[in-house]
Amino acid sequence: MATTAPDPEFYYPSEDIVSKAILKDWDGTAAAALKDPAAFWEKEALELEWFSPWNKVLDDSNKPFYRWFDGAKTNIAHNAIDRHLKNFRKNKLALIWESEDGRYDRTFSYYSLNREVSRMANIIKAMGIVKGDRVTIYMGRIPEIVFAMLACAKIGAIHSVVFGGFSVDALHGRISDSESKLVITCDGSFQNGKLVELKSIVDESLKHCPTVENVIVVKRTGNEVIMEAGRDHWYHDLCALPIANGKCATEVMDAEDPLFILYTSGSTGKPKAILHTHGGYMVGTYSTMKYAFDIKDEDRFWCTADPGWITGHSYIVYGPLLNGATVFMFEGGPAFPYPNRWWQLIERYGVSIFYTAPTAIRSLMRFGEAWPNKHDLSSLRLLGSVGEPINPEAWKWFYRVIGKERCPIIDTWWQTETGAFMITPTPVVPLKPGSGTRPFFGQNAEIVDEEGNQVEDGQEGYLVLTNPWPSMLRTIYRDPDRYVNSYWSKFPGKYMTGDSARRDKDGYYWIIGRVDDVIKVSGHRLGTAEIESALITHTAVAESAAIGLPHEVKGQAIFCFVQLKPGFAPSESLSEELRQHVAHHLGPIARPEEVKFIDKLPKTRSGKIMRRVLKARAQGLPEGDLSTLED
Ligand code: WTA
Repeated sequence: MATTAPDPEFYYPSEDIVSKAILKDWDGTAAAALKDPAAFWEKEALELEWFSPWNKVLDDSNKPFYRWFDGAKTNIAHNAIDRHLKNFRKNKLALIWESEDGRYDRTFSYYSLNREVSRMANIIKAMGIVKGDRVTIYMGRIPEIVFAMLACAKIGAIHSVVFGGFSVDALHGRISDSESKLVITCDGSFQNGKLVELKSIVDESLKHCPTVENVIVVKRTGNEVIMEAGRDHWYHDLCALPIANGKCATEVMDAEDPLFILYTSGSTGKPKAILHTHGGYMVGTYSTMKYAFDIKDEDRFWCTADPGWITGHSYIVYGPLLNGATVFMFEGGPAFPYPNRWWQLIERYGVSIFYTAPTAIRSLMRFGEAWPNKHDLSSLRLLGSVGEPINPEAWKWFYRVIGKERCPIIDTWWQTETGAFMITPTPVVPLKPGSGTRPFFGQNAEIVDEEGNQVEDGQEGYLVLTNPWPSMLRTIYRDPDRYVNSYWSKFPGKYMTGDSARRDKDGYYWIIGRVDDVIKVSGHRLGTAEIESALITHTAVAESAAIGLPHEVKGQAIFCFVQLKPGFAPSESLSEELRQHVAHHLGPIARPEEVKFIDKLPKTRSGKIMRRVLKARAQGLPEGDLSTLED
């Protein structure tokens, strides 16, 4: 990049960033990895510990059911914890936590993390949980959620974390679909100073979940809860039992054994239980974390996501700990009690890598620069963005006001299904605001048309991935057909992401958004089907359609159109009641921005709701081709 004048379109990293980066030669590494992805991944895998080696890096004999590191034995918890106890990291901080109100902080070295995880693992083992059993985890952002995930991994149980912002229907559906034997929860959590009674949501959800034998309740908020004798147990009581103490052996797992399932929204129907494995997911999160975030022992890494989403799984828990990093986790949100809460924490804990979502940046921008400017943010080295396209205005604000034009922004494109970053810069890659730059090592992304042919650069099309990768989902739990149909059938041999995108003349990718019925509300992934099935449980609703419309801060907001049953009349209060109904059943994150009444939903002759028409109408845009409309 030396002789020609810098292109003004790009933001270049400083000499300091480049000279200290773990990986300096992006181009060379990318070219070599693309030529031989398996060799790249094998080299990455060899940096971790395996109880016994693989027969083959990638087994693609039964596409699209790819297998990685087949035959090898390992355990992700061994590499995330046990491995570090043998060196100086034993006494290094693994996790730093602060409560929402700032009154408490807790810190755990790798040594004490191991103790906490072993204790929880001993307890759940004593409850009869064995390798392969499912455990649902439904908690606020407290250290115990991390312990619970790692404890499951350690003994080979499959965790299924449900975001604490979901409510009864969502939780019930996920517990029963996974047939969990155990639920780990807490009495409550705090959200902007308000109590969310998680345990009572669990109680309601468990009314028809016959597989659940035990519920472990961590005391966090101290609100009164009902404990069902024989089923519900306080965690602190369990910890006092002799069985809780002592070493807990880390289970030897096959590389392809399931590590977790995580439910995510698809185009239609019930949420999909995305399945990830010990071996491949471990290598993917380890390697992406290392290169994209250039993680070093002296860093303090903060990912503001919730462990209940894939971002929290991969980049609060597994990716950082696999790298022996120090993670900061905060219980609360960005603007409570004041809009400087996050900036205050960066200063207080000396955070060096700060990874957040565009929606949060946009909401904090509105409060003005005075809030961040009150704080010393000089510990920051890298910034990160995830969850939805970041608009250049927000990018530039983040870059200038928070990063002081020193910190590259690592805009990471990926999905629950991909487990780890697929398109992302590393700190040495010149940036363009709003682009995730280029595919990660070993990956190749194409933009294709309806027939699967590559479109010209600059044209919009479907984003597909053409190379398998270690942290790819293996299947949809107990529904392999849906796995094939959802991801591999539209463009055979290529993984369909569900996103549209374009590639520019420099080979940079620009994500436009979802092409299916997935809505991204404040970075949270929700399905129209889930919202509609919550609405239909209300007595007044005959039929409904949910759509996502552009929203200045949230990225997208949920709008619903409702056809009422005979005998019900549209009114302001009914509209409000329906919004509340969705929030109660599915969760506050799914509360529609607006519920509008409609005489008849536009449908195709085959009965499919034409959301495209509703979207256009709601925005006053042309409605396009209406030839398939019913009448
Ligand atoms: C969107 C979140 C643009 C995208 C990790 C994808 C993004 C969906 C970005 C997956 C980004 C995620 N730029 N769009 N950097 N990151 N997305 O499963 O539409 O919750 O398909 O995973 O989020 O959402 P999910």
